Amino acid sequence: MLRIGLLTSGGDCQALNATMRAIVKTVMHNTKQDVEIYGFLDGYQGLIHNRYIQMTPGDFSGLLSQGGTVLGTSRTPFKLLDVPEADGTVKVPAMKRTYKNLKLDCLFVLGGNGSTKTANRLSQEGLHVIALPKTIDNDTWGTDITFGFTSATDVATRCIDDIHTTASSHGRVFVIEIMGHKVGWIPLYAGVAGGADVILIPEIPYDMDNVVKAIDRREENGGRFAIIVCAEGAISKEEAAMKKKDYKKLVAQRVKPSVAYDIAEEIARRTDREVRVAVPGHTQRGGQPDSQDRIFATQCGVEAARGCLEGKYGYMIAKVGGKMCRVPLEDVAGKLKYVDPNCDLVREAKLLGISFGDE
Ligand code: F6P
Repeated sequence: MLRIGLLTSGGDCQALNATMRAIVKTVMHNTKQDVEIYGFLDGYQGLIHNRYIQMTPGDFSGLLSQGGTVLGTSRTPFKLLDVPEADGTVKVPAMKRTYKNLKLDCLFVLGGNGSTKTANRLSQEGLHVIALPKTIDNDTWGTDITFGFTSATDVATRCIDDIHTTASSHGRVFVIEIMGHKVGWIPLYAGVAGGADVILIPEIPYDMDNVVKAIDRREENGGRFAIIVCAEGAISKEEAAMKKKDYKKLVAQRVKPSVAYDIAEEIARRTDREVRVAVPGHTQRGGQPDSQDRIFATQCGVEAARGCLEGKYGYMIAKVGGKMCRVPLEDVAGKLKYVDPNCDLVREAKLLGISFGDE
C-alpha cells in the first residue's frame, strides 16, 4: 500500500490542479501497489486540523485546464508555526500527528517560498516531503521558473494591451500595477510583452525625474500617450535608501490602496497631464493555465511522482537550464530569486528605449 498526501498552500495560481493531476496519474500508471490519496483542505490548515478528503484518481480527471485549486488554500506564516493557536494546538506537532495517523509515505506540497520553508521544517522533523514550485511571482530560489508565472504574465500582458487603446484615444498616461510581491518578474516580462514605455521593478529603484523625462521623450517622438508598468513592490531611490523600519512605516501609512496611485499622483503633479491607474490585481492569478504552465506543471508532477516511487524525499522539483531536477529543500528554504538588474532582458529592453527610471 502506498499512501500519499497532497496540499496546495499560499496564494493560488492557474496550474495547481494540473500539477496534482500529473502526480496522481503518474503514480497510478507506474506502481502495482494499491494507492490511497489524501487531499488536505486549505493548505497546511488541513494538515494541522486533520481536515482532508480521501480521493480517487477519477477526482483528478478534467483538471488539466482548471485554474484555482480543488483542495482550497491558505497562508500559514512560518513565524507562527510554533505559536499555539486559540485551542492550544501547536502547528508543527499537529501536522506530524496527522501525517503519522494516516501512515503517509509521502506528502506533496505545492507552494511558494513560505510554503517551501515550512516543507523544509517538516522534512527536518522526519516527514517525507516533496515540494513543487508554485507561484505566479516566479521568485522561488533554485528553479528557473515556477508554475503560474507564464499564465499570470499573459493576463498582465492582455491588460496592458487593453489599456493601450483607451490610453491612445484619450492621450493619457496610464500607470498599470502588476503583481509580483517583492520581485519584478511579472512586470518585467509583461511590460516588455505589452510594449510598456516605462517599467518600474523593485530590483531597480527609480528616480521620478527619469520617469518624467521618459514620458516627455515619448511625447517629443510623437507619442500621444504613455504606459508605465509598475510592480506592486516598485521602490524609488529615496525609499530604497531609507532604513527598513522607516520604509515599512511609510508603506503602512499609504492612504491609497497601492503604489501605482502614489506614482500616478506624482506624475500628474509634475507633468500636468491626465493620468489614470489600472490594477488588474487578482485577475492575474485567475482563469485557466496557459499551455506553457500546463506543460511545466505536468513535468513537475511527473518528476515528483517519480521521486516518490523511488522512495526519495526532502527536495523541491525544479527546472534549471531547461532540465528537470531536484533541489534539496534546505538549499531553497527562505531564499528569494530576484531579477538581476543586468540580465539580458533588462539590457535589451533598455536598448529598445524602455526606461526603468534609473537613468
Ligand atoms: O504570491 C502571489 C501574490 O499574488 C503576490 O503577487 C501578491 O503580492 C500576493 O500574492 C497577494 O496576496 P493575497 O492574495 O493574500 O492578497
